[in-house]
Amino acid sequence: MIKPIDMNVLVIGAGGREHAISWKLMQSPKVDRVFVAPGNAGTAQICENVALAVDDFVGLKRFALESAVKLIVVGPEDPLVKGIHDAFADDASTAHIHIIGPRAEGAKLEGSKDYAKRFMMRHGIPTARYESFTAGEFDKASAFLETLQPPYVLKADGLAAGKGVLILDRIDSAREELKQMFAGKFGEASNTVVIEEFLSGIELSVFALTNGKEYCILPEAKDYKRIGEKDTGPNTGGMGAVSPVSFADAEFMKKVEERIVIPTVKGLAEDEIPFQGFLFFGLIRVDGEPMVIEYNVRMGDPETEVVIPRIKSDLFELFWDTATGNLASHNLIVDERAATTVVMVSEGYPGNYEKGLPITELDRVNGSYVFHAGTTHNTKNEVVTNGGRVLAVTSYGSNFRKALLNSYLNAETIEFKGKYFRRDIGFDL
Ligand code: AMP
Ligand code: GLY
Repeated sequence: MIKPIDMNVLVIGAGGREHAISWKLMQSPKVDRVFVAPGNAGTAQICENVALAVDDFVGLKRFALESAVKLIVVGPEDPLVKGIHDAFADDASTAHIHIIGPRAEGAKLEGSKDYAKRFMMRHGIPTARYESFTAGEFDKASAFLETLQPPYVLKADGLAAGKGVLILDRIDSAREELKQMFAGKFGEASNTVVIEEFLSGIELSVFALTNGKEYCILPEAKDYKRIGEKDTGPNTGGMGAVSPVSFADAEFMKKVEERIVIPTVKGLAEDEIPFQGFLFFGLIRVDGEPMVIEYNVRMGDPETEVVIPRIKSDLFELFWDTATGNLASHNLIVDERAATTVVMVSEGYPGNYEKGLPITELDRVNGSYVFHAGTTHNTKNEVVTNGGRVLAVTSYGSNFRKALLNSYLNAETIEFKGKYFRRDIGFDL
């Protein structure tokens, strides 16, 4: 492609995912400036932070016009579900700006579990048997529970900050939780509840970029969601990730592509849902076969912190080709090495935690790249904690165990009060 004048890109979000995306974009000779709204202390070191919230569409539009932004990459799901793509595309003054991330209609694949399940059923995509119920249907829901074997899976239909899925061993506790969900346990998100069959297997995350017709599958990853070692304790945003995933061999990935990726992209076209952005397939391998647990319409975090480092191709070109209809011609080049990331979190996370604690020894990191997840600068210009997940320490290795050694050495080196990280990332591979 010929480089347009002033190729400025705006990345929306403040986490490790957005740091990794902007880090990679900064390596492209085709990009002039990368802005991150609102960004963190890590993105401030390599590109330009903009003090705007991810859902301040008016402010973001004004900034994008003033700063000659030509491409926007939306990191988190919230602004997508709220219609950031529509806000730009439906306004004549910003319609020329390309957006990586679907319109609100496509974002329902993540924003409504009931919508996603109906989509999968319609297009024959393998997923757990389910039914959806609203508050007036408690008795029907209760009868459906009886047709299932324990454990019971209850899912709030809407976005619930990753907390909306409950897995219960006993039917009476499932009924009790269901009552609470209908009573507003997750606010409006649980007005509708999806009840589904429990699937037993090992999970992985598969990512594709698509423009609704063509697609490009990115390296797969495995994420570790529970706070405690050996997958114990409450769910978090993600405590670490590895890529590639050993069990996702060519044969398995062929099944994923044929049974899941292609039918999803075709299904979007058939249903006339425009879609330009990431598809994130939350998969589970059941008896060797892939099934969909959930769709997301963005990259995963911390998966991005291992997927992006493994992409050797120019990420900007990949985005530009997605936005301009040339994705099919794109030849993705993937690093043969494994990448791992270990997430360092605040004491107390995923419950309450302190913020503003100074982070030291970052300059002693050797052999890893540190993506910032929840950091900022204090008034003394020190880098301080600013979230539950604080840093993602990413390393390469000839295999994931060697990569992990570096991530762990550096996670030991970096200091902040109460730092915690899981020491068993990859334990099940
Ligand atoms: P989600 O918010 O949909 O990603 O679900 C959170 C987690 O709940 C998933 O990563 C799975 O570990 C688990 N989960 C969701 N649905 C099922 C299911 N049908 N069977 C087993 N585990 C599930
Ligand atoms: N790491 C899982 C997610 O981003 O949803």
